[in-house]
Amino acid sequence: MSYRAFVVNKSGEDFSMGVTQLDEKDLPSGDVTIRVEWSSVNYKDGLACSPTGRVIRSYPMTPGVDLAGKVQSSTDSRFKPGEEVVVIGYELGTAHPGGFAELARVPAAWVVPLPAGLTTKESMALGTAGFTAALSIHQMERCGLSPANGAVIVTGATGGVGSTAVSMLSGLGYTVAGSTGKATEHQFLRDLGATEILTREEVSAESTRPMETERWAGAVDPVGGATTAYLLRTTKYGGSVAVSGLTGGGAFSTTVFPFILRGVNLLGIESVMCPMPLRLEIWDRCGADLKPRGLMDTIATEIGLDGVVETVTRILRGETKGRVLVDLR
Ligand SMILES: NC(=O)c1ccc[n+]([C@@H]2O[C@H](COP(=O)([O-])OP(=O)(O)OC[C@H]3O[C@@H](n4cnc5c(N)ncnc54)[C@H](OP(=O)(O)O)[C@@H]3O)[C@@H](O)[C@H]2O)c1
Repeated sequence: MSYRAFVVNKSGEDFSMGVTQLDEKDLPSGDVTIRVEWSSVNYKDGLACSPTGRVIRSYPMTPGVDLAGKVQSSTDSRFKPGEEVVVIGYELGTAHPGGFAELARVPAAWVVPLPAGLTTKESMALGTAGFTAALSIHQMERCGLSPANGAVIVTGATGGVGSTAVSMLSGLGYTVAGSTGKATEHQFLRDLGATEILTREEVSAESTRPMETERWAGAVDPVGGATTAYLLRTTKYGGSVAVSGLTGGGAFSTTVFPFILRGVNLLGIESVMCPMPLRLEIWDRCGADLKPRGLMDTIATEIGLDGVVETVTRILRGETKGRVLVDLR
C-alpha cells in the first residue's frame, strides 16, 4: 500500500524537501504500525528541515517528532488494531521516520495509549511543546510551586511551549505573566490568561547585578540564553526556573548567589527521553487538570502536508504563534 510522506534529503551540498509517495515496504522495522491522523510542527521539526539544523541523523528522513492516530497492526499484544495512540520524542522524526506521513511504524516502547480527556487531534495540538509545558509545571510543583507563592512567568509566550504553558498555568489558578517579542500578540496572551506582558528586551537585558528584586515564584523558560540569567536574578526565594529551550541562545552567565542566598531551583526539562512512568503521568494531566482552555480555538491552527515547508521556515524565524497541527487524514 502506498502513502504520502514529507521527506527531507541531503547529499553533499544538495538539500531537498517535499511531499512524496512512499510504499508500506519503505516503513522501518518496528512493532506498531500506525495510521497517522494528526502530527504537529515543533521548533525541532524546523531544525530537521534546515540543511544546518543538525537534528537528522540519517537521510532521507521523514521529520515530525509527534504523531497520533489509530493502530493499523501490531506485533506487540499491548496494542490492538483500531486503538488510538500517541507517540512523541525518542528518535521519531530524527533517526526514525516520523509523523509527517500518513503511515508510521515504531517500537512498542514508544507508544502511549491516547490519554483520557483528549482526542487524537487535541493530543497533537499539545504535542511535544504542550507536553514540555506540562512537564515544566509538574516539576516546578514538585519543588513546591503553588498559586499562593506568587506570579509565574512564561518566556517566548506566544510559541508552542509558551502559549500552552500560559493557558495551563492560568487554568490551575496561577497569576501568569508572559514575555514576548511580538508586540501585536498581547491580546492573544491575555485571552489565554496572562495578566502581565513583558517585552523580550526586558527579560533578556544583561545586568552586572547578581540578583534583582524578587518577582517570580516560577518560570517556564523555552527561550534560554540571557533570559535564563534574568530569570535567575529575579526569581523569589525558593522559586524554580524550568529551562526547556534555546530560541534566545544556548549560553548564559550567572552567579551562585540566586542558588545560595535564595535557594532558587534551576530545573532541566527534557521531553524526548522522558521515562515512561513520568511520561504517562504527564499525558494523564494533559487530558485533565492541565488541559489548556482555548486549545483548539485560540492556540491551534491547521495545515496539510503541503503547508509544512512554509511553516518550518516561519518557526525557525520565530514567526509562528501557538501550535500548528498537520492533518494526515
Ligand atoms: N527540552 C525539551 O524537551 C524541549 C521540548 C520542546 C521544545 N523545546 C525547545 O523549546 C524551544 C521552543 O520550542 P517551541 O516548539 O515552543 O518553539 P516555537 O513555537 O517556535 O516558540 C518559540 C518562541 O520563542 C520566542 N523566540 C523566537 N526567537 C527568539 C529569539 N531570538 N529570542 C528570544 N525569543 C525568541 C518566540 O516567542 P515570542 O515571539 O512570544 O517571544 C517564539 O514563538 C525550542 O528551543 C525547542 O527546541 C525543548
